[in-house]
Amino acid sequence: MKIAGTGSYLPEKVLSNADLEKLVETTDDWITSRTGIKERRIAAADEATSHMATKAAERAMEAAGVKAEDIDLIIVATITPDTFFPSTACHVQRNLGAIRAVAFDISAACAGFLYAMQIARHFINSGNRKTALIIGADKLSGITNWTDRNTCVLFGDGAGAAILTTKTPDDGDPSGLLSSVMASDGRLTDILSVPGGGSAIPITPDNAHLRLNTINMQGKEVFKAAVKNTCEACEAAISRAGLTSDDIAVLIPHQANVRIVDAIRERLRMPPEKAFLNLHKYGNTSGAAVAIALDEAVRTGVVKKGDNILLVAFGAGFAWAASVVRW
Ligand code: COA
Repeated sequence: MKIAGTGSYLPEKVLSNADLEKLVETTDDWITSRTGIKERRIAAADEATSHMATKAAERAMEAAGVKAEDIDLIIVATITPDTFFPSTACHVQRNLGAIRAVAFDISAACAGFLYAMQIARHFINSGNRKTALIIGADKLSGITNWTDRNTCVLFGDGAGAAILTTKTPDDGDPSGLLSSVMASDGRLTDILSVPGGGSAIPITPDNAHLRLNTINMQGKEVFKAAVKNTCEACEAAISRAGLTSDDIAVLIPHQANVRIVDAIRERLRMPPEKAFLNLHKYGNTSGAAVAIALDEAVRTGVVKKGDNILLVAFGAGFAWAASVVRW
């Protein structure tokens, strides 16, 4: 399996740290020094997750030279679906006219895009499907508590996509997925969640004021789980690829917090210039973050043909994943 093309989409509206200073008791200095985030994008009220996902998909299809009728698998990784059902992937399938595809969503929060890549890889390597469209897309602004300074400064909206295709062993193309690690730890479900709005705690007129259908987070616990688990996953993915961290040309990490990226990088003994960052512009876009970063790194020439790149993501679940890809 190889990545034949990438695409991304960010909504137009920019929400800066200065704008947030007017909403909650915070400062640009606090947000920048604790997270690295300067601004984030916010989707329009009528812009659903599937709209952003479709735009990112169209760009990936154009980059890969793939038409809607070629696609036989669509996986959308999202925690902010358009509707409980049908899946956002089916909305995207309709928008694209990709009628030959089987389409479904997966829920793995910020690790979703890498989970989708690894699921699609199994479909492709088994010969079951030939051309997959994987998308990470989230409209976190819709589940953010805009009165909670602990969380509202961190997140943004966006979508990223990739087209994965089969490759034949004798086509002379060295690009492809070299290794992957996928893991989760359900003991940590409570440290990052949207507790209400599902079957466990439905939102009723009586509890609506508690904002249980917005993000609830224990920041320090998430920080610790992220660093420990992603460092181990990165080391395992590099080793399974038969490489050392010196062989990795570009690290494309989940764009949650620059201090988490620094911790991963330092553990892997990678210099700062190897980590691709765009969190200062977009904040944490959950399932979209690694996909958008990959697309930007490819389009700006940071990732070059033949490079080994390390993708790593973590999020609610707790769920995390790492993959080494040769470009
Ligand atoms: N502006 C100003 N002060 C803030 C603030 C904000 N936006 N958010 C929190 N604070 C305050 C806290 O209330 C606390 O005040 P107190 O000491 O009076 O109680 C103080 O800043 C320090 O908070 P603390 O939680 O110790 O900060 P931190 O260094 O751990 O940074 C996070 C907080 C959220 C940035 C950090 O824990 C983090 O990034 N965690 C991971 C979050 C994440 O990545 N989530 C998504 C995973 S996919």
